Amino acid sequence: MSDQPISTRVVLASRPSGRPVTENFRLEQQAVGDLADGDVLLEILYLSLDPYMRGRMDDAKSYAKPVEIGGVMEGGTVARVLRSHNAAFDPSDIVLSHSGWQSHAISNGSDLRKLDPEQAPVTTALGILGMPGFTAYAGLRNIGKPKAGETVVVAAASGAVGSAVGQIARIFGARAVGIAGGAEKCDYVRSELGFDVAIDHRSPNFAEELAAACPNGIDVYFENVGGHVWSAVFPLLNDFARVPVCGLIAHYNEARSAAGTHDQLPAVMRAILRKSLNIRGFIQREFADQRPDFYREAAVWMSNGRLKYREDIVEGLENAPDAFIGLLDGKNFGKLIVRVAS
Ligand SMILES: NC(=O)c1ccc[n+]([C@@H]2O[C@H](COP(=O)([O-])OP(=O)(O)OC[C@H]3O[C@@H](n4cnc5c(N)ncnc54)[C@H](OP(=O)(O)O)[C@@H]3O)[C@@H](O)[C@H]2O)c1
Repeated sequence: MSDQPISTRVVLASRPSGRPVTENFRLEQQAVGDLADGDVLLEILYLSLDPYMRGRMDDAKSYAKPVEIGGVMEGGTVARVLRSHNAAFDPSDIVLSHSGWQSHAISNGSDLRKLDPEQAPVTTALGILGMPGFTAYAGLRNIGKPKAGETVVVAAASGAVGSAVGQIARIFGARAVGIAGGAEKCDYVRSELGFDVAIDHRSPNFAEELAAACPNGIDVYFENVGGHVWSAVFPLLNDFARVPVCGLIAHYNEARSAAGTHDQLPAVMRAILRKSLNIRGFIQREFADQRPDFYREAAVWMSNGRLKYREDIVEGLENAPDAFIGLLDGKNFGKLIVRVAS
């Protein structure tokens, strides 16, 4: 008889139409299978909630496969090895895994990276020292390429990616202008993270305030959101401006047919030509070979206080759906993580 634990899991119950609702998710329990040779049994400690998960809930063609109806929601996790049939892992090792929204999982070890809790809090492997931090680094290093004295603008500036973008831009000698939702986030971006300016995108005078904050125009716009932020940024782009297109969260809940306001296209294309703009989309894993550089550089920046982070930790896997829905509305303040077990 198997003595494997029961895994609590959040599965995709139905595909959302527009903004997800709690009913699109279902909490289930299922026995985890028996371990084969080479397998490890994982107890999930922390689950990362990220905007890309909204795309996995749709079945539209994308760069990654959708989650099946009834399938466990995908996601990055920090886990503890409970049992090991794999010589590379010992019980109680802490690892980075991609186990999804569940309390226990089996892995064959190929997707695991051991974490050293002495070096950094293990949650940072899901945020500043993980995929979001690397996304900021890769987009700036390969596409944004900010030079000293240039103006770099980023939205969702208090979040996982945006907070790192502005701080790394300043490390490169650029001037960082952050855009965030509300006074509290703007204050944090300016006074804690050290951005030069922070602008509230909910202000009725947002476009004017952004223009005033960028008297020499914008040289690098790190695109995280789209929507009204893009509309305000676009006229301020300088000749030869670089636009790493990282995310478009303002559009993630739109129907595919509505995404993209086609009447703006001629003006955008004319500006791309006239200003020699470099607008380039990317998915961070394209630059995976630069991860060792990032881990090395980010560790130094963190130790000398130049790269700070904030985490928004939600208690309990059962609260993951509502926390994720809130992320798409800007309710998170910092890297959103669920504590699945202590
Ligand atoms: N290309 C890649 O490889 C890659 C990798 C990771 C992430 N991303 C993208 O990077 C972006 C940021 O991700 P993250 O993990 O760092 O998330 P995050 O910033 O921690 O959280 C999302 C934030 O987006 C902002 N937001 C939501 N709707 C908005 C709207 N309509 N207009 C303006 N801002 C809005 C909210 O902040 P405010 O309250 O401040 O508005 C919200 O807190 C996302 O678009 C994500 O898809 C791309």
